[in-house]
Amino acid sequence: MWEAGKGDLFEDNPRPSRNAGPRSVTAELTADDLDVDRTLRPKTLDDYCGQERVRENLRVLIQAARARNEPLDHVIFSGPPGLGKTTLAGVVANEMGAKLHTTSGPAIERTGDLAAILTNLEEGDILFVDEIHRLNHQVEEVLYPAMEDFFLDIVIGKGPAARSIRLDMPRFTLVGATTRTGLLTGPLRDRFGISYRLDYYSVDELARIVSRSARILGVDIDSQGAAEIASRSRGTPRLANRLLKRVRDYAQVKAEGSISWEVASEALAFFEIDEMGLDWMDIKILSALTKTFRGRPVGLTTIASAVGEDPSSLEDVYEPYLLQSGLIIRTPQGRQATSLAFEHLGVVPPATK
Ligand SMILES: Nc1ncnc2c1ncn2[C@@H]1O[C@H](COP(=O)(O)OP(=O)(O)OP(=O)(O)O)[C@@H](O)[C@H]1O
Ligand SMILES: [Mg+2]
Repeated sequence: MWEAGKGDLFEDNPRPSRNAGPRSVTAELTADDLDVDRTLRPKTLDDYCGQERVRENLRVLIQAARARNEPLDHVIFSGPPGLGKTTLAGVVANEMGAKLHTTSGPAIERTGDLAAILTNLEEGDILFVDEIHRLNHQVEEVLYPAMEDFFLDIVIGKGPAARSIRLDMPRFTLVGATTRTGLLTGPLRDRFGISYRLDYYSVDELARIVSRSARILGVDIDSQGAAEIASRSRGTPRLANRLLKRVRDYAQVKAEGSISWEVASEALAFFEIDEMGLDWMDIKILSALTKTFRGRPVGLTTIASAVGEDPSSLEDVYEPYLLQSGLIIRTPQGRQATSLAFEHLGVVPPATK
């Protein structure tokens, strides 16, 4: 058994945070959530809802590779957290009928770790590297020839006696995932034949995901209840599933277990998720930008210390959705609240001169 990669495919890393207090529903990943993620994760392209272009593309590429009896070209999935990158890696392996090995950028510390992983692969296997933008340079250098020409250059010994040997390796498929395409080096990016950026999901797609999850979890929900949860899930399946669970708990205590539109909206108000799906941390960020900084552009680290969150969580977890929903903009001087943010919070914008 190969052991260099920590965790298996279905273990997402809980996001670390400086915040010791209660976590926002958007960022927190509890062990319980991970269990739910695991149970609800689709295994086939047919089960995977939304991302139509990616799905249809992959269907063709997988069918072609299978017909030629060849491994799929290397694939990279990028996009904000919780949109289904890890899920797709599993789906690709399943649809290819291939064995899946899972690791992550930070788990591969030395070139030897990577060599151990690569030499354990067999023809057609899939190696999933999560957070691939966090691979270090030396490790990346070893990966290039492996991806391109399926060989490894391994240095044996030290000092003047050191010599390099070349090991041929079986043809495999590397599947990478990243929340930050901007941090991927050019040479690594160029070695992926297939690259997909996942987008936020529509309310309809999320409603389908909520209904599917409810069916699997044995929760009684009607279509308006599912739509209400979907509309407050920030375009993100992981959040949709998480909100469904919270609403289920509420329904169990207050509404004999059934989720209608009324129950869903009451429950979500109870858990402080507003109509745009913003939670208290989003509101805290927007309040800082509108009230404390009065709509002026502010640097990421300044906002981070104003709200007590770390800058990388702000950038990866909160900012993409706030940008996408037009509540903030990024300018060369920093992040700025838009008039929509002032309106949403009911704050009077500063007078323009
Ligand atoms: N297209 C989809 N259809 C149905 N469920 C989905 C879909 N995409 C994601 N999910 C659900 O959302 C959960 C989170 O998805 P996943 O772990 O794949 O996200 P991710 O993009 O890898 O996130 P991260 O960047 O945090 O690693 C999954 O467990 C699955 O239940
Ligand atoms: Mg993932």
